[in-house]
Amino acid sequence: MSPEASRQVGALIDRIQTRFHEGHRQALPELLAMAAKVESRGIDDCLVDALHAIGDALEQHMFKEEMRLFPMMEQGGNTLIGLLIEDLHHEHVEHEKAMDDLRARLCTLTEAHCTDLALQQFIRGLDDLASELALHIRAEDEELFPLFAPPEWPDSPSTSNPPSPATSTS
Ligand SMILES: [Fe+2]
Ligand SMILES: [Fe+2]
Repeated sequence: MSPEASRQVGALIDRIQTRFHEGHRQALPELLAMAAKVESRGIDDCLVDALHAIGDALEQHMFKEEMRLFPMMEQGGNTLIGLLIEDLHHEHVEHEKAMDDLRARLCTLTEAHCTDLALQQFIRGLDDLASELALHIRAEDEELFPLFAPPEWPDSPSTSNPPSPATSTS
């Protein structure tokens, strides 16, 4: 890997860790407290568990990236990195699915509890986490991972969409 490519990889990893990994770790405890507040009002009894499951899966995933993937990338990659990247990409799909399921559940709850402030606050907080998570996943799937392994997963934007006219060279 050229010094310039290696500098780019280092900067991207730094950005991902600082904004997204640390950002999610800071946001989750406050969101769990909000979920508990909603539950204490008798609105639902599975919100804390559902958010805990998302947080635990996310923490394990980020830990795997920090302990295995990022060091491998900083050393220029190796022959096994493609398998690890594929595994991490599948976990991204699962995180987004779990987040979508929880948000759909909240959407249903608002129909019966539309004036509840604790519920509205939790929904707004979760929306913020969901958009940060989507940006985090995009930065990895679309910017970082392709530097080491060409994406072959069928749901990848680069394989499911034709190149846009702005980026097409033909
Ligand atoms: Fe990450
Ligand atoms: Fe990731």
